[in-house]
Amino acid sequence: MRKIKVALAGIGNCASSLVQGIYYYWDIREDEFVPGLMHTVLGGYRISDVEFVAAFDVDERKVGRDLSEAIFSKPNCVPKFADVPKIGVKVLKGPVLDGVAPHMKTMKYGEGFLVNDDNDPVDVSTVLEETDPDVLINFTPVGSHDATRHYAESALKAKVAFINGIPEFIASDPKWARKFEENGLPVAGDDVKSQVGATILHRAIVDLLVNRGVKIEETYQLNIGGNMDFLNMIEEDRLKTKRISKTEAVTSLVPYSVPTRIGPSDYVDFTGDRKICYIWVKGRNFGDFPVYIDLKLSVMDSPNSIGTVIDVIRTVKLALDRGIAGPLTSISAYAFKHPPKQFPDAVAKRMVEEFIEGKRER
Ligand SMILES: NC(=O)c1ccc[n+]([C@@H]2O[C@H](COP(=O)([O-])OP(=O)(O)OC[C@H]3O[C@@H](n4cnc5c(N)ncnc54)[C@H](O)[C@@H]3O)[C@@H](O)[C@H]2O)c1
Repeated sequence: MRKIKVALAGIGNCASSLVQGIYYYWDIREDEFVPGLMHTVLGGYRISDVEFVAAFDVDERKVGRDLSEAIFSKPNCVPKFADVPKIGVKVLKGPVLDGVAPHMKTMKYGEGFLVNDDNDPVDVSTVLEETDPDVLINFTPVGSHDATRHYAESALKAKVAFINGIPEFIASDPKWARKFEENGLPVAGDDVKSQVGATILHRAIVDLLVNRGVKIEETYQLNIGGNMDFLNMIEEDRLKTKRISKTEAVTSLVPYSVPTRIGPSDYVDFTGDRKICYIWVKGRNFGDFPVYIDLKLSVMDSPNSIGTVIDVIRTVKLALDRGIAGPLTSISAYAFKHPPKQFPDAVAKRMVEEFIEGKRER
């Protein structure tokens, strides 16, 4: 079986969890039950088939370092859970564009980003042509409208598939989806739906209530955390697409409109990469009596997101092997908050399995 060559844009906590995860699960057997994984082998591809060939960031503590060191460099705070050998891939300086918000440069609230001023940015599409990845994954900060489009455009130019981990609309924008289709490339996105995160839990509760005839009257989902993703998101003007992505993921399951407040709510530095989520739902059931659900989830944020990404990478590679281009409907509905088309999670899971078995085109 061939390797899956991966390029990464944004070497933050998610990239760190992905790289660590590859080594953490390196030796697993196909037939064993492995906590944390949904597929030990997917379409013939093992976790250890993932190979990193290029990496882009803009922070001076990461640019120029081997990927195996950059993933543990500040301001990353996800705990170390795997030994990562030297990879031989140097982190290159990507174009900053709108990747770094003004408040992230001041260090007023906490760590923040330190933009590397010593190097000119590389030409991303040239690097991709030279390193020849199968897929580029976008892990830049929320609000990176221009940077995301720059990486997506560079992937198109270099004939590389694209996974969009963030709430910028690429796979779910018909104009962008068509560009990938016309170039014979698969695209999956947008905005990773974590393995057992706030979104999937909130969706499960809402789905349950709708299916059991309960009228949902109001709901909120408040999230706090202490990593750079949460620090970046304290500025509401970075958050427009994140709120749309997270809110639509929940409201798309309810056949009527409901007052909602859903999104990142505060940065609490000492929680580090641990995210805490509060979900509240008020509904009305038989006899018009009120039902209240008041729930707290606590989870390590970044590894949680990679539980699904590890399957997305292998699914995109399967699409490449089969010559399938354009938006991948099934894996996007399963693993992303804002896919081209929303499906209930159980349906999306079935669609993904059918795709893997070759019974469904996308
Ligand atoms: N559970 C999760 O962790 C989760 C779930 C869904 C989506 N996401 C999204 O994934 C993205 C990555 O999350 P993270 O926790 O790794 O964030 P992070 O802040 O730890 O990492 C972002 C990295 O991008 C770099 N960067 C900034 N501008 C750049 C540019 N122009 N080019 C290349 N690199 C640039 C930063 O220096 C930093 O290293 C975020 O947008 C986040 O919202 C995360």
